[in-house]
Amino acid sequence: MSFAIIAPGKDVTEWIDLFQEMDDSLSIQVYPDLRDKESIEAVLVWKHPQGILKELPNLKLICSMGAGVDHILSDPQLPENIPITRIVDDKLTFSMTNYVVTAVLFHHRQIPKYLAYKSEHMWDMREPEVPVTIGVMGTGALGSDVLDKLSYLGFNVIGYGRSRKKEFGFPYYSGDELESFLSKVNVLVCLLPLTPDTEDILNLSFFEKCQRGTYLINVARGNHLVEADLLLAIEKGFISGAFLDVYREEPLPKDHPFWDHPKIMLTPHIASVTNPAAAAPQIYKNYENMKKNLPLVNEIKMSQGY
Ligand code: GLV
Repeated sequence: MSFAIIAPGKDVTEWIDLFQEMDDSLSIQVYPDLRDKESIEAVLVWKHPQGILKELPNLKLICSMGAGVDHILSDPQLPENIPITRIVDDKLTFSMTNYVVTAVLFHHRQIPKYLAYKSEHMWDMREPEVPVTIGVMGTGALGSDVLDKLSYLGFNVIGYGRSRKKEFGFPYYSGDELESFLSKVNVLVCLLPLTPDTEDILNLSFFEKCQRGTYLINVARGNHLVEADLLLAIEKGFISGAFLDVYREEPLPKDHPFWDHPKIMLTPHIASVTNPAAAAPQIYKNYENMKKNLPLVNEIKMSQGY
């Protein structure tokens, strides 16, 4: 029986050390060196080569190395009926919330404007803050924490999600109430899972429904955003600017128009990076639970896609 890590291009030494510390008898195979595919019962994956999982005849558990599982579900040859788990952990949530708070404050306290004033040696005390109401799309573990902390800072916040919720600590919109949701906010945070329903959701017709001058923060997935439509929406004034961490193609190509756009701030998919020390115990626990036929933690619902 063995465990495999399939994360091409990632240095997984820290993961191996952590698993070995928890269980020195655990046999770990690391892609591309999968010597004994028959023995592999569980895999930890990040952007695995499509088709490889179906070559593991005894696979019983697939663990995502991150919060998202879209990189797993997009494999057309994904073996069926194998449970998939994702990472939910306090460190991941802490980093994501702090990133979103930074992006909100960057806009609200107009950092780009003051950087320009600084370079011009200009002293202008007018309009020091942009008033904001923040809408968070995606109200799972990450979105809920973002809402709580922004609200604690005194901001008006509202949420939008796929499912109806009876009880929610903030005004909440779901399903076809998207237009009313958009009409209430002027800062929009995308924290949705990427599924066939949410792919390309941030497109021109969506931006047209936003309050004029809405500021966009995308920390979910690049494929939520139709990138050419964002450029158009900024040009037309539907969107005033954007703070982005994720892109359709990563690394962002060197000649991509986002790099030099004065109204777009960008970072290289670092909003919330899985901390192996924080996440390894839940993965090992799931490996053990799988062997004992016990319920898994943070298992996704296949029918929902997250
Ligand atoms: C990062 O993007 C993740 O899914 O954890």
